[in-house]
Amino acid sequence: MKQYKVGVIGGTGMVGQRFVTLMEKHPWFKLTAIAASARSAGKTYEEAIGPRWAMDTPMPEAAKGMVVLNAEADIEKIAGLVDFVFSAVDMKKEEIQALEEAYAKHECPVVSNNSAHRWTPDVPMVVPEINPEHLAVIPAQRKRLGTKRGFVAVKSNCSLQSYVPALHPLKDCFGLREALVCTYQAISGAGKTFQTWPEMVDNVIPYIGGEEEKSEREPLKLWGRVENGVIVNADTPAITAQCLRVPVSNGHMAAVFARFTNKPTLEEIRSIWAGYQGRAQELDLPSAPKQFLHYFEEDNRPQTRLDREREGGMAVSIGRLRPDTQYDYKFVCLSHNTLRGAAGGAVLLAELLCAEEYI
Ligand SMILES: NC(=O)c1ccc[n+]([C@@H]2O[C@H](COP(=O)([O-])OP(=O)(O)OC[C@H]3O[C@@H](n4cnc5c(N)ncnc54)[C@H](OP(=O)(O)O)[C@@H]3O)[C@@H](O)[C@H]2O)c1
Repeated sequence: MKQYKVGVIGGTGMVGQRFVTLMEKHPWFKLTAIAASARSAGKTYEEAIGPRWAMDTPMPEAAKGMVVLNAEADIEKIAGLVDFVFSAVDMKKEEIQALEEAYAKHECPVVSNNSAHRWTPDVPMVVPEINPEHLAVIPAQRKRLGTKRGFVAVKSNCSLQSYVPALHPLKDCFGLREALVCTYQAISGAGKTFQTWPEMVDNVIPYIGGEEEKSEREPLKLWGRVENGVIVNADTPAITAQCLRVPVSNGHMAAVFARFTNKPTLEEIRSIWAGYQGRAQELDLPSAPKQFLHYFEEDNRPQTRLDREREGGMAVSIGRLRPDTQYDYKFVCLSHNTLRGAAGGAVLLAELLCAEEYI
């Protein structure tokens, strides 16, 4: 397999640190550039991070001495050092849109963790197991941007990466009319640790800005179709969401209630989850979990601390499937928000883009 040179834009942040860590032993990708704000530029990665290293594993040796570049001022230089970049910057939406398109226009593909381009109709928002066919809009986007290689592809929000994977194969088989979800989201989703957000110890905050709208709307783009070079969003199902911040370091849990067009049996649901394989599994991508959806029979699973790291934090854990008094069924789901939900999901998307020869 070909080797690809990779840059991380926003490499000093919480998600950026994950990207840097995931590149350490990646079989296809080699980290050749790290960029961040002017505050970090010119320092070695180790100096720029200072006390901010938030990963469980030590900083990769190869990254420590790399000199951090300026994500906005050094675009041409970075584009010359890499085959593509991951983007995870904390800036205003319009600034991120402009920055990512500037990389694309320098013929540098961008695989983004940011929400800025999620609603751009010719930017594919892809979970490789769910909607890999949306990559077909890339030629139209290249035409709009006037590029040959460059484009922007994004991953969806972390909150929905537990319940959409569980609902997706059921929707295809039985039709999904309505879903109600309550999410219980980890503090790393806000780029925080208990040290940097002590108010979260022994506490729940019933508000995450913008998260409920994303949780309700983004699934409709994932379930949309490609038409004339853009994604046309699905009209259904109706989704309603409440999103709570809970005192957990990593791992977003979701409690889900679902109503179907043709109500399946419990056995049918379990068997569809057990057998579900997406494009990532068919292509045997390096970061793809072997078993995407893992169902627990135990009543007290999945548990965040025990189950978030399943298959490198890339599998989705499901449990407590049972009939409901208002909806057809209810169940709980868990996914790792900075792995499957952020950097890991973007790495898997980049692997798909390489395997399908868009990069
Ligand atoms: N945390 C999650 O689980 C998660 C999940 C999904 C999506 N996201 C999204 O991913 C993005 C990054 O999140 P995060 O949690 O990693 O944030 P973070 O820890 O605050 O890191 C922000 C990064 O952006 C860089 N940056 C800030 N201003 C910049 C500028 N003007 N030019 C270039 N770089 C700049 C920072 O560089 P300096 O170190 O130099 O300041 C740092 O590398 C955000 O858009 C967030 O919404 C996060």
